[in-house]
Amino acid sequence: MSVVEVNGPAPYEVRIGSGVMAGLEQLAVGSRVALIHPASVSHLAARVTELVGEVVDIEVPDAEAAKTPEVLAGCWDRLAEAGLGRGDVVVGLGGGATTDLTGFVAATWMRGVRLIQVPTTVLGMADAAVGGKTGINIDAGKNLVGAFHEPAAVLCDTDSLDGLPVREVRSGMAEIVKCGFINDPVILNVIEKDPVRALDTASDEFFDVLTRAVRVKASVVSADPTESTSRGSEVGRERLNYGHTLAHAIEAHQHFTWRHGEADAVGMVFAAELSAREIGRSGDTVQRTRSVMAALGLPTTFDATPWPELRATMNLDKKVRRGVLRFVGLRAPGHVQMIEGPDEDVLQECFATLRPARQNS
Ligand code: GLY
Repeated sequence: MSVVEVNGPAPYEVRIGSGVMAGLEQLAVGSRVALIHPASVSHLAARVTELVGEVVDIEVPDAEAAKTPEVLAGCWDRLAEAGLGRGDVVVGLGGGATTDLTGFVAATWMRGVRLIQVPTTVLGMADAAVGGKTGINIDAGKNLVGAFHEPAAVLCDTDSLDGLPVREVRSGMAEIVKCGFINDPVILNVIEKDPVRALDTASDEFFDVLTRAVRVKASVVSADPTESTSRGSEVGRERLNYGHTLAHAIEAHQHFTWRHGEADAVGMVFAAELSAREIGRSGDTVQRTRSVMAALGLPTTFDATPWPELRATMNLDKKVRRGVLRFVGLRAPGHVQMIEGPDEDVLQECFATLRPARQNS
């Protein structure tokens, strides 16, 4: 097992390893538990019930379909019916969408109750469940409504990844790769050496890169919990958004049929191309990004939505300041730099590099 500390006003542990879900028994002692989960993890919900005794069981839709105002209001209604109080705890069990929703339920119920996140996907473990970002989507865009609400603990039980569809594993691996590019290039070395082992959630290589990614996330959010320290070209928590500016637009235009990590993979190719043009020293990184994504079976091309539509959606990106589009760029793996207000022609040129090869010839 690894334990990674997240520091800040209310420090907490991220426990990673086989069987760590059992820690819920101690963590929930003396509190009633509201358990929010999709039907796809009902077998794990039964295990939670065994550990903590009776729960207020709230089943929500799978994936992004859970992150709606209607589902959120349904959760509040269930907590009201059950009389969940300030001393009780809300547990999120599921993928990143479930833990985002659950976090927002906990942040808003009685102005904030204790939250324990039990992610059951690679993406949830490597990113979504750690760091206190919570929220839902509205028609205008993804995660536009939310709050920062730190969990009291995050339990990444790698046993819960058994049987996870390979598409889900790959999607989560994109977030792990992102941590490699922004802070810890050893992650990239491990994946490049044996991508098949890295994708095997029971392997030492997987445990290594997952733990490293959680350490990256923990150190970044400990230094900048509310994403407020970027200044000029210096980059705080916003660095975790590497590749996300285009990725969020792709997800919205593809009506969330693309997994978040798949869109991120393409977004990172775009960000590397942009970095090569605007910062000038990351030509090798473009090639490395394409090859590591391809080795993991992740997409590196995209032409399903016309550029003007994606570009318009990017104006809603949360990194935009006073109408100026800002991207997390990369000078080299481990060295990020903000790119502010890039030329529109350069953006379009970067998008053109994403066309599948048959159309480039
Ligand atoms: N997923 C990006 C962040 O937590 O800031």
